[in-house]
Amino acid sequence: MYAMTSRTITSKMRQELDQLKSGESFRSLPPIHLGHDLYLQYKGQKLLNLASNNYLGLAGTESMKTAAALAARNYGTSSCASRLISGNYSLYDELEQTLCRFKSTQAALVIGSGYSANLGILSSLANRKTLIFSDRLNHASIIDGIILSRATHVRYRHADPEHLAWMLTRNSEQSQKLLVTDTVFSMDGDRAPLAEIVRLCKQHRVFIIVDEAHGVGVLGRGRGLAAELGLEKEIDLHMGTFSKALGSFGGYVAGSRELIELLMNRARSFIYSTSLPPAVVGASLEALKLVDMEPQKGSELMYMSQKLNSFLRSLGFDTGNSSTQIIPVILKDSRTVLAAREKLMDLGVYAGAIRPPTVPAGTARLRLSLRWDMKKNEIDLIKKAFIQLARS
Ligand SMILES: Cc1ncc(COP(=O)(O)O)c(C=O)c1O
Repeated sequence: MYAMTSRTITSKMRQELDQLKSGESFRSLPPIHLGHDLYLQYKGQKLLNLASNNYLGLAGTESMKTAAALAARNYGTSSCASRLISGNYSLYDELEQTLCRFKSTQAALVIGSGYSANLGILSSLANRKTLIFSDRLNHASIIDGIILSRATHVRYRHADPEHLAWMLTRNSEQSQKLLVTDTVFSMDGDRAPLAEIVRLCKQHRVFIIVDEAHGVGVLGRGRGLAAELGLEKEIDLHMGTFSKALGSFGGYVAGSRELIELLMNRARSFIYSTSLPPAVVGASLEALKLVDMEPQKGSELMYMSQKLNSFLRSLGFDTGNSSTQIIPVILKDSRTVLAAREKLMDLGVYAGAIRPPTVPAGTARLRLSLRWDMKKNEIDLIKKAFIQLARS
């Protein structure tokens, strides 16, 4: 037996930890098993899962598992090197070519995760002289990418083209300008006003990046919000992830050949990281094929989500401006949200409790994410649980 070494932390670190523990936002790992399934297990209890981003139910399907297993059998368990050294293999090229067709772009590049893709993109394309216009509710990976780039961060009010227009006019003298927005906002389930954003960016000559993490697989016959609005060609760089509706893992960028070449040479999160394991790349490729075969699943999910959203509103719940499969139930303070989550668990339903700093203070919420393979049974279970919650 080895004695456990107990290296202590500094008093400053302990002070910070104690402070976190005394508040309502302290995080710890939930004892969840099979968190991508329609029903997950929580402390041995089977609960309907409203907390996963497996929007199409692809993760865990036989064909995805087979594709992953086959790729591992053919190519091994790890690439053991970064892509530019020796971590490349033919499945990767096949995935990127499929992505180009899927996104109607000249080229595409797969990067470790959605988070590292955003870090790589923003830190490569912007520098101290750049202004980056960014929706105030953009994902943390975008914010971190902007910080890493050292650009000036210009935050416009959430989904507010008028405020964006004002910010753009105020900064019209600046030459290097870039805008980045989530297309579907991860904690609110609403959509960016992409048509207005594109119009303004064209007018002010601003380079446009969209993050389709929650749009891909679902909107626009699986291609995302830009495709749904017919704006694919107007967007300079499409970013997304395989880790949500596509049921796999890994980030991607799609755009012009030159842009992808630039990222390949500049994005440090791509250059200095081991490429994805074959099983993951195999599963991602299968996911794109599955979405191509049944592109209508996303609109079926939208229909189901809109009906449930209206029902929740009829009970008096505030679901914000959600118009997608992500439905926030905004209860404002963290304590109420935690109590509501407990109550829902007693009623057989598991929902994410989202609190500041992930969302702004005073907007703590339950985050419900629906999935295509929910049937009448599941919808009835959700409705019953929320009727009980509304009464309590
Ligand atoms: C909008 C958005 N962008 C990027 C990411 C990061 O993607 P990944 O989980 O693949 O790192 C997320 C994940 O939550 C997200 O919601």
